[in-house]
Amino acid sequence: MSNIFANLGQEILCLAPMADLTHCAFRQIVHHFGGCSLYFSEMISAEAYCSNSPYRSFYLDSRPDSSRLVYQILGNNPEMVQRLAVDLLEREPFGVDLNMGCCAPFIRKKGWGISLMSEPELATLLIKRLVKVRDEDGRGQSVSAKIRIGEKNDLNLLLDFCRRLEDSGLDYLTINPQLRKERRGRHGDWGVVDFLEKNLTIPVIGNGNIRDYNSFSYRKKTYNPSGFMIGRAAISQPWIFDMIRFFDKNPDSTYRVDLAEVIEMFFSFIKEYLHPDFYYSRSTRFFQYFASNFVFGNGLFFKLRNTTQFDDVESEVRKFMDNHQDEMVQEFFIDKKKLTKDNS
Ligand SMILES: Cc1cc2nc3c(=O)[nH]c(=O)nc-3n(C[C@H](O)[C@H](O)[C@H](O)COP(=O)(O)O)c2cc1C
Repeated sequence: MSNIFANLGQEILCLAPMADLTHCAFRQIVHHFGGCSLYFSEMISAEAYCSNSPYRSFYLDSRPDSSRLVYQILGNNPEMVQRLAVDLLEREPFGVDLNMGCCAPFIRKKGWGISLMSEPELATLLIKRLVKVRDEDGRGQSVSAKIRIGEKNDLNLLLDFCRRLEDSGLDYLTINPQLRKERRGRHGDWGVVDFLEKNLTIPVIGNGNIRDYNSFSYRKKTYNPSGFMIGRAAISQPWIFDMIRFFDKNPDSTYRVDLAEVIEMFFSFIKEYLHPDFYYSRSTRFFQYFASNFVFGNGLFFKLRNTTQFDDVESEVRKFMDNHQDEMVQEFFIDKKKLTKDNS
């Protein structure tokens, strides 16, 4: 494994960048469960930053552990990206990452996210700018990018693009191996993660559809990239990194978690760390994923859809907790029959 991850432990397990979800209050919950190798922030718009967004300090909050935080930048304007990066690097994170994978229509319209994969000249210019800012900063932080396969399934084109980023000074790369048009629920092609890991000199982190210990373990045995990134499953199970470490050491044991404790933590941390304007949107977004832990979680999801303010979210969740006491402590174990195939 390359030196860039040398101080992060043996297994590189990363929390994916997720808009409205991987804010510092959520990262604090993951931290409570022993943390992960790298926490990616939600994407931070260089344009919003440069227009003095009133929520700047909230997006730039580096807690709980700046030394393991990777700030993700969204944008394509070199001057704006550079200005944001200077501020971010002063907060001494592990590094900065450029979003080259987001496919949302309004992001593509702006020429941000995955659009950069069709503009290799601009993409490499942005990486060079980030490397320059990093080198001037002098603290040796990382510069990375998160990509998809791109518009079409052309591995030569993809490799050429990645090599250009590598030649521009990129330290490592994360790939969610899906085409732009593929929906999130579809399986990505982890063979592409393997292909890049073998053909690039920088480390490659694989991302996509790791849902539990089995799907992690299958990818590790089959593809063995330099690291793994988990998104949606980390929102519904903020303990997933801890659980993976636990099962690596204790494959025959049971992992227990108290969901009521996680919910209490969530409410307490969002009130402690976030701006009140975000309580409602961030809590409904979180419970959209977390509700999947319960047999009748759909019921909670639909109830929350009819709320309009945070107090109602909190009271609906508390009512749900009272009515589902029997589901609050959950147990996980490895289903050994499924370890040899990709069951995600
Ligand atoms: C609600 C949501 C928000 C996301 N926001 C971002 C983002 O800000 N930046 C980014 O690079 N990817 C973003 N993604 C993509 C995830 O980082 C990840 O690549 C994707 O969810 C696949 O990983 P998973 O199967 O482990 O969830 C987002 C995904 C979701 C579901």
